[in-house]
Amino acid sequence: LSDKKLIIVSNREPYIHKKTGLSIKVEKPAGGLTSAMDDVLKVTGGTWVAWGSGSGDRDVVDNKNLVPVPPENPSYMLKRVWLTPSKAENYYHGYSNQVLWPLCHITLDRVYFRKKFWEDYKEANRAFSDAVLEEADNDSIIWVHDYHLCLVPGMLRNENPELTIAHFWHIPWPDWSVFRVCPQAKEILEGLLGNDLIGFQVPLFVKNFMDCVSECLDADIDYNKATINFKGHVTRVKAFPISIDFDKFNSMASSQRAIRMIKNTKEKYGVTHGYIGIGVDRLEYTKALIKRLQAIDLFFDRYERFRRKFTFIQIAVPTRMKEPYISYKKTVEELITKINKKYSSGSWKPIIYIDTKIEHEDLAAYYRMADVAIISSVYDGMNLVAKEYVASQVDENGVLILSELAGAAEEMQGAIIVNPYDIEGFSDAIKEALIMSQKERSNRMTFLRKQIKDNDIYKWISDILHEIIKVSSFKQNRC
Ligand code: UDP
Ligand code: G6P
Repeated sequence: LSDKKLIIVSNREPYIHKKTGLSIKVEKPAGGLTSAMDDVLKVTGGTWVAWGSGSGDRDVVDNKNLVPVPPENPSYMLKRVWLTPSKAENYYHGYSNQVLWPLCHITLDRVYFRKKFWEDYKEANRAFSDAVLEEADNDSIIWVHDYHLCLVPGMLRNENPELTIAHFWHIPWPDWSVFRVCPQAKEILEGLLGNDLIGFQVPLFVKNFMDCVSECLDADIDYNKATINFKGHVTRVKAFPISIDFDKFNSMASSQRAIRMIKNTKEKYGVTHGYIGIGVDRLEYTKALIKRLQAIDLFFDRYERFRRKFTFIQIAVPTRMKEPYISYKKTVEELITKINKKYSSGSWKPIIYIDTKIEHEDLAAYYRMADVAIISSVYDGMNLVAKEYVASQVDENGVLILSELAGAAEEMQGAIIVNPYDIEGFSDAIKEALIMSQKERSNRMTFLRKQIKDNDIYKWISDILHEIIKVSSFKQNRC
């Protein structure tokens, strides 16, 4: 990066200060974006601009709304953007979570448009753009993230055409037959074309994006070079599959602390014998927890010999706690209760449900302990949990069951790939994982671990920064 200042912009902040009585507690949110980018900024330094959503957030910032983070060992600055409760409601819970999120995850029956969602989405994007301009100079690299901030690149470009602006889209980009449903399709695409570079998780999303631009805007698209010229400004589009800090999970899972925790957890839940399965998710409908539970139900129904021998631990962190998430949580919990009632015997119950956030250090122990991890997303940009499980499998014993509809499935050969809509096939996959020979499990896991080690978050950041710098020097030479 040399003399360039890196400015990350996202809706969600990596550290949330919350008031508890007279003291202030810091929390890290669950979610792939903050998990990944915090690892990045700890190494590169710079500034992260994000919505100040915590009750104690205002108490710790300076007069430029900056606070150094991580709190225990600061290495970069967090700049907070303030939104009124009604703006946050319409921009975040409204347009971001009830329009763009379900649209991009092709769950059209959950898409809900309201005029005020869009109005406040525009105003919130303006607030982020203003905050970035307070920090940026012509040499800055501005790196925007995700669907909450589609208009920010266009706004920044209008203010200062010299800026280098990149965007990473963490979620899927659907094809035009889906995206055309969006009444603001044109404005969203135009906003994004203020970027010099847009990164997607997999090549399919790059193609879908170019197709959408081609259908919706009068732009010059070069599919071979993956560039889009719109009103004289060129945007490059490219796939960069996001990853995790392999070494961090590997060493956390290898620690004495993890070994002690595995022993204690097994005793606590009475699972010292038999197989353990794990699911780790935000309590999110796109993760298809219901389908996963139906597959587990069918598995116990069909393969009675696994009753009392297989225990599934589901960690499900409450997220975006408005509708439809409130109802989804209730349905998941009712189904777990039903399955537990159906198969429990003695002190054994098939599903252990944890509905609080578990920190990475503890998650690494859960991952290591699990004979099988299940990822059942009906659509997912990547899914970092799949990669974290593999990095924590230091004994190379476990099996990854992975939905073919998660971006991670493209890279993770060695997993058992399932179609989450095929509940019978899914339940058979659980059996296949549990009866797999030690040799095959180990071969598959060794292969998976090498893939993730060779393609970790540091390779991802280096690939993207390399491309951003290329785009930025190309612009400078042109000037
Ligand atoms: N996560 C966590 N604690 C939990 C549950 C999840 O720290 O109790 C983290 C998890 O380790 C991962 C992220 O949240 O880094 C989830 O990312 P993923 O890409 O799997 O899904 P997303 O939530 O971004 O859709
Ligand atoms: C996904 C999105 C992120 C988001 C995260 C958690 O990973 O791509 O942008 O931060 O989910 O969701 P939340 O609404 O709590 O920020």
